[in-house]
Amino acid sequence: MAYTLNATATSTASEDDLFDYIFSRVDSMDPDSIADAAPVLAAYASDSGLVARTMAQSMRSILDGQPPPFVAPQCYVIARRRHIMIRANVWTPLKQTGALRKNEERVYSYDTAHDHNFNFLTIGYFGAGYRTHIVQIDPSQLNGEIGDSAPILDSEVTSLPKGKIMLYQAHRDVHRQAPPDELSISLNVLFNNQSQISKCQYNFVIEEERARILSYTSASIHSRLSMLAEMAVMVGGDELMGLFNDIVDAPLLPPRMRLMCLEGLREDQAAYRGAMERLYADESDMVRLHARSALSQLQ
Ligand SMILES: [Fe+2]
Repeated sequence: MAYTLNATATSTASEDDLFDYIFSRVDSMDPDSIADAAPVLAAYASDSGLVARTMAQSMRSILDGQPPPFVAPQCYVIARRRHIMIRANVWTPLKQTGALRKNEERVYSYDTAHDHNFNFLTIGYFGAGYRTHIVQIDPSQLNGEIGDSAPILDSEVTSLPKGKIMLYQAHRDVHRQAPPDELSISLNVLFNNQSQISKCQYNFVIEEERARILSYTSASIHSRLSMLAEMAVMVGGDELMGLFNDIVDAPLLPPRMRLMCLEGLREDQAAYRGAMERLYADESDMVRLHARSALSQLQ
């Protein structure tokens, strides 16, 4: 289950203090070592002017003609060093009705259950906090196809009020946020490892006993790379065809991107068959199953 951590700020910590702690003590792939950073995050979040300063900086840079420094209108990058990003998320109650309300829900991803392909530590910075339904799954139970599902191992309905710290584990903690009753802000520390780029993020339907994959999240790097491959296959040509083989054979790249490029090899039957034979024992369930079934159809 997502960890709820007890830590109260007894001192303050600067951005440098937080990064120094993370880079010297935290293994980004180990949730327990990330959890140990909770007191430093609490100390960092005790700076009551932090988010206003970040927003002012964003607005100033827009006035100076710089590109908007936010990920989305409600999500501000405070700092980024190597694979660690600190972000502020603003959560507002839904004000609108009808079509505009749908827009707001989409911007905030309210009521869409999803996972992330990175671990992240979060603290309520301001307000009563969003409400959230979290279910835990074992990601190894999923093969990654739309409609595939995994049993729900644990479930919790909670919120993120000011001062509360939680650790969401990559792929395990599927969550669906509901709007807060009042303006709320959370700070997130994202642990984005390069090795996770190939890992997909999904939208889920939470059923009584299972979490079922509804779709792929469109904002993830995974989806963007897969779309790039899809377009490259449509464009075609010798230069791109030469790259498709390399991408098919790159296990760190997203399975959907690799499978798109496999499709791109179809015009060259020998290359297509050769690629599928190499993928027959691939580590990715999705790639392996697809290659085996496509190969059996050729025979
Ligand atoms: Fe999320």
